[in-house]
Amino acid sequence: MTNLAVIGTQWGDEGKGKVVDLLAEGADMVVRFQGGNNAGHTLVVGGSTYALHLVPSGILHPEKTSVVASGVVVDPGVLIGEIKALTGRGVEISPRNLKISGKAHVILPYHKRLDEARESAAGAGKIGTTGRGIGPTYEDKAARVGLRLSDLLDPGLFGAKAKIALEEKNCLLTNLYGQKPIEISELLELAREWASFLSPYIVDTFEIIHNASKEGKNILFEGAQGVQLDIDHGTYPFVTSSNPTAGAVSVGSGLPPNELHKVMGLVKAYTSRVGEGPFPTELADETGQRIREIGGEYGTTTGRPRRCGWLDAVVVRTAVDLCGIESLAVTKLDVLRGLPEIKMATSYRLGGKSLAHVPGTLSGLAQAEPVYETFKGFDGDISAAKGLGDLPPEAKAFLDRLAEAVGARIGLVSVGPERDQTIVLDKPFGAPARAGA
Ligand code: IMP
Repeated sequence: MTNLAVIGTQWGDEGKGKVVDLLAEGADMVVRFQGGNNAGHTLVVGGSTYALHLVPSGILHPEKTSVVASGVVVDPGVLIGEIKALTGRGVEISPRNLKISGKAHVILPYHKRLDEARESAAGAGKIGTTGRGIGPTYEDKAARVGLRLSDLLDPGLFGAKAKIALEEKNCLLTNLYGQKPIEISELLELAREWASFLSPYIVDTFEIIHNASKEGKNILFEGAQGVQLDIDHGTYPFVTSSNPTAGAVSVGSGLPPNELHKVMGLVKAYTSRVGEGPFPTELADETGQRIREIGGEYGTTTGRPRRCGWLDAVVVRTAVDLCGIESLAVTKLDVLRGLPEIKMATSYRLGGKSLAHVPGTLSGLAQAEPVYETFKGFDGDISAAKGLGDLPPEAKAFLDRLAEAVGARIGLVSVGPERDQTIVLDKPFGAPARAGA
């Protein structure tokens, strides 16, 4: 039995969907433990593309159990839409294979309205959120005025709690942001609709995860976003409102920390970031533009163009050391082909000192100068590579240096969007993964 977490090491968008889908082959259960529909995990299977926001990326394996655990914030309308769209495409989803925690907090219309209103009022100081209401929902959770999915099952309780919450939200919406108030009847109507669809899915996921772990099942924990977006350890305040670091597996799912056995770090072969905030290896030039176009670096959730730059091993090393990552899944290596040279930052210079980790202050990160190592570029189609030896030597040298620089081995390399366009070196669940094994 193995419990494995897959964590984004950068600013999200490392290609978790494909890797989770692939690893799910050897897992019995796939669990989302934090974040919400700010995430967008893309899977390409048999030429069809699936963009998932809330449903775990293991859902394309109907015999596995997919779990949305208590640390996730759920927009029920989005979740229902996603379930309907997937089932409409022939994906089997029922309360048998999808379990949703009653403790997960509900994103309500006022959370989205406040998220958007704050961002537009902040002008140049905005965070660049996805506008999905994620921050305001986690705020209400911490302030203990949030509504949980289990509240949908008790209309009287939902109505009473929503009424109290709405008083404060409407005060902000109308007085501070000059907007129309939200009517309680709108919330009650939505709650009725949501409850009638979601009730059979809402369960105590802690017990399901606990039992699976005790029975020696393989559980895959699917992180969302990336370490630099972590509210405690990321580039605060330009972060999300949850913890994408490995420690959150335990908090967000209820799995005891000593039952998480392995952590795999997702690393895109370059760096991208959406939203505001410092980004030392950003390329505001033609190379950055080229990576964006070839890599399709436009948000799965918002469609926003992503800022692109060279691979930053300082960022990856920070994630390795924060999360206990032993193995790296490197994605989108194919995007770099055709570039005459490729760079990787392996340390920063700040105030005459060499730094191995991302500095703890925003001003430090804004002033840090990346120290680059330069590699020869590689060309040719690498999408059929099944082992590291099938890669051009220049590409292999780049991967070897990454592993050495951050102190973790290369466990998987994605060389194209399809499941079988993958070099699989690590088999964390023992069983051979489907592709390239
Ligand atoms: P929020 O999570 O919508 O509050 O957005 C806060 C910050 O996190 C913004 O910079 C977003 O662009 C970023 N963010 C949130 N989710 C993702 C993701 O899944 N991938 C990349 N960036 C994200």
